[in-house]
Amino acid sequence: MIYLDNAATSRFKPRRMFDEMFNQLACSSNPGRGGHNDAIDTAIKIYDVRELLKTLVGGDDNHEVIFTSGCTEAANLAILGYLAAYKGQRAEVIFTSYEHNSVARPLWHLKETSGVKLIEIKPDKDGRISSVDINDAINENTRLVCVNHISNVTGHLADLEEIGKIAARRNVPLFVDGAQSLGHLSINVKALNIAFLAAAGHKGLHGSQGTGFLVYDKRYKLLPIRFGGTGSHSESLIQPDLPPDAFEAGTLNSAGIIGLGASADWTYKNLSKIALNSRYLTSELIYGLKQIKNVRLYSSQNNGVVSFNFGDYSSTDIGDYLNENDIAVRCGLHCAPLIHRQLGTLESGTVRASIGYNNTISDIRALLNAIDKLNYRKP
Ligand code: ALA
Repeated sequence: MIYLDNAATSRFKPRRMFDEMFNQLACSSNPGRGGHNDAIDTAIKIYDVRELLKTLVGGDDNHEVIFTSGCTEAANLAILGYLAAYKGQRAEVIFTSYEHNSVARPLWHLKETSGVKLIEIKPDKDGRISSVDINDAINENTRLVCVNHISNVTGHLADLEEIGKIAARRNVPLFVDGAQSLGHLSINVKALNIAFLAAAGHKGLHGSQGTGFLVYDKRYKLLPIRFGGTGSHSESLIQPDLPPDAFEAGTLNSAGIIGLGASADWTYKNLSKIALNSRYLTSELIYGLKQIKNVRLYSSQNNGVVSFNFGDYSSTDIGDYLNENDIAVRCGLHCAPLIHRQLGTLESGTVRASIGYNNTISDIRALLNAIDKLNYRKP
């Protein structure tokens, strides 16, 4: 199968990730839950991955890494855990039309349950989110600005440099959804003034599903949203509030996390090669789609994610046709309805091809040929 669904989960995983996961599973022990050597050894390995991830995203002693089951849990923790302190107060949150449901749904939950006011910043006709619009929307009740870094629908890249400057100048914490960007380009939380960065382990960082993390600036008070055993302060029936334990109740996905350490390390060592290949293949795909009659294209940037539709077909019809031709893409709304509303594709959805490390130009040509053939199919 030609796999062009890397935005859902990356197909390629470095060999070292499998080895680390195998070794950990073959000698399983629970970190922080026992004083024996094997538990301590696992705890040390997890500590090392925490430090590695923090360093890779430019964090320092003010930052903490919280391991989660994926980017969704990381986004939930940041949004619900940070805004919990404003319960009963006036609170407004600014977000963009690019937000995935992992961000939009916790926000809507707060709107329904706590009356939080939500302000959507919509893209212009070129798909750009204006930092001026964000600046204009901030007022004394703004508690958080949420920005999707690279859209999982169109591949649009947010101007985090400008937005980060505004957030810092206006003294509002910035939450960034890095699900689609980590491992494709480098992010520096300090340089970009990011207070909360949510990340997936199983996409651009080439880790396994069930891994993700939140990097946050500890100067912002986060409250736990999950309660249970932390292996610390066990005499207390009140959830401790010291990170990272406070936010990681229950047994960690040790094999996934240790594997993620290996895959993230591999990814960052190969980042320029990965980015170059992805940019090249995306630009070839966009160029090729532009040449095909009846294609409507919704992407213009070379960030590994391309959405399009063809003729009167629904996106899922095209997805089924490509599947019959052994090509894997994702169709529909991609759990991001707000941007589909802006694109006018809420009904039809879009066909999304997303590029990974081991895709080649022949994969792109196969997709383009398959789409072009639709123009010559008998009705
Ligand atoms: N959020 C993932 C995607 O875009 C699952 O497909």
